[in-house]
Amino acid sequence: MRIDILTVSPELMKSPFEHSIIKRAIDKQLVEVHFHNLRDYALNRYGKIDDYQFGGGAGMVLMIEPIHKCLSKLMAERRYDEVIYMTPDAGRLDQKCANQLSTSENLLILTGHYKGVDQRVRDAYITKEISIGDYVLSGGELAAAVLCDAIIRLIPGVLGDETSALTDSFQDNLLAPPVYTRPADYLGMKVPEILLTGDFSKIDEWRHEQSLKRTQEIRPDLLL
Ligand code: 6GU
Repeated sequence: MRIDILTVSPELMKSPFEHSIIKRAIDKQLVEVHFHNLRDYALNRYGKIDDYQFGGGAGMVLMIEPIHKCLSKLMAERRYDEVIYMTPDAGRLDQKCANQLSTSENLLILTGHYKGVDQRVRDAYITKEISIGDYVLSGGELAAAVLCDAIIRLIPGVLGDETSALTDSFQDNLLAPPVYTRPADYLGMKVPEILLTGDFSKIDEWRHEQSLKRTQEIRPDLLL
């Protein structure tokens, strides 16, 4: 997979790609991530990329021209499965969406800033708009990093244990069951007896019950 990210702040975004599982996925060449600085496509030598909104109102809006220049260059180079705009005024990211995107060949992600982007960018180039939750961040960069993490870890070969992505919370619309490791007794805090029995069909059953219980308590909306 190849992911291109067009952003005002590449530096703000890079760190999550330089550590742990995502770094290893890049090192193993299972994914390529390319950052593009919107300022490199600015209108003038002062780096102008935003302007006041027509009709008045607080906040600057990212202009169409620098974005068009960058997107059209990239889109001439390869076919993108989706051109994604990260914005709080969109449908919310969920596991189903991450699963679908994880089978893509090429993804292009535009991150918003300030008051957002000129609507004509969204109308003309964007094929999918994504929010990561019902709260407002100061920019789309962290949201784009979250989206990339959710997608990249699903690419076959990225996680060591092929089955572990499938047993995550949300893959079956249930929260994950509790997990324990050694010691079996720490200062009198004991691991549930069932996990020590070696009876794996009973253990599976117990884990499913715990998942249901957790989901009922914390996220009953997932069961509807
Ligand atoms: Cl994608 N962007 C911003 N700025 N805030 C958000 C978001 C995105 N998703 C949730 N809040």
